Amino acid sequence: MTERPKILVTQKVSDPAYPLLEAIGDVEANTVEGNIWSYEELLHRGPGHDYIYSLLTDNIDAHFLETCAASAPRLKMVANMAVGYNNIDVDAATRLGIAVSNTPGVLSDTTGDLAFALLMATARRIPEAERYLRAGKYRGWGPLLFCGAEVHHSTLGLIGAGRIGKIMSKRASGFEMKVLYYDVHRVSPEEEAANNLTYMPMDDVLQQSDFVSVHTPYMPSTHHLISTREFDLMKPTAILINTARGPIVDEKALVKALQAGRIAGAGLDVFENEPAVEPELLTMENVVLLPHIASASLKTRTLMATMASDNLVAHYRGQRPPNIVNPEVVSN
Ligand code: DGY
Repeated sequence: MTERPKILVTQKVSDPAYPLLEAIGDVEANTVEGNIWSYEELLHRGPGHDYIYSLLTDNIDAHFLETCAASAPRLKMVANMAVGYNNIDVDAATRLGIAVSNTPGVLSDTTGDLAFALLMATARRIPEAERYLRAGKYRGWGPLLFCGAEVHHSTLGLIGAGRIGKIMSKRASGFEMKVLYYDVHRVSPEEEAANNLTYMPMDDVLQQSDFVSVHTPYMPSTHHLISTREFDLMKPTAILINTARGPIVDEKALVKALQAGRIAGAGLDVFENEPAVEPELLTMENVVLLPHIASASLKTRTLMATMASDNLVAHYRGQRPPNIVNPEVVSN
């Protein structure tokens, strides 16, 4: 590529990401914080760029990729600023020879912190208690006031024990929790020992856990992995935590399970039809709801932002992007 590449950044990201891009190309960027382009807007703006720096809110589907691949200049890469890349049709990108990268690793600890905070907040009813106090309802200490679920020495069940699942287990060990896990890829005995993990079939994890925390990627095989059958297996005192991707949990089935007392509560950072939330969940005091902030520390979001830039710059320089998702499209 002899000319400076044209780069499109679809949302406002941390400042240090831009100079890395500006050093190699002409950057067109959405600079309005919180302004998420619609699919139509993306389709209007995307064609004519060599590179797209995307966020998980961008629907980079086959039609979009085909349109950008047919434009001049032709799209060469989508650098996603997220570890998850279910917003991108990677098969279509690969078919069209478009590279895709993500930002794994740098957010695992921060996401684990939030997942554990959500577990604590839901178990100990922290947001509900704070709402009560702020509403001026606190009349003094009460023996039964906001009694919640015990966290220490309880059993945590991980559905998925990749990077973030393992961090969650480490956080749980400080609370002397027993940690069960299920993953399609069982981790090595050494890693199980190092991370205090006990492998079990998924149904056993669901049946035996006080807290079930979801840490799998979202893909066709994990769509509604947790639905009515799974809620029926869980303890009526159990709490579900989801910081992975919304559609892994059948949100309508979750509402029914909570309404019927099949499980005791839920802490959710992600939603099936984000940013929409099942309206019933908004009315339930035993549910803690967050706006997809698990990786949202300033340091981590900055690391993710520069990592996405580094991937893109590496591709431009003819190097293998460090976090390439579809290595078959790059020659080195
Ligand atoms: C990701 O990176 O996939 C998270 O959901 C947002 O940090």
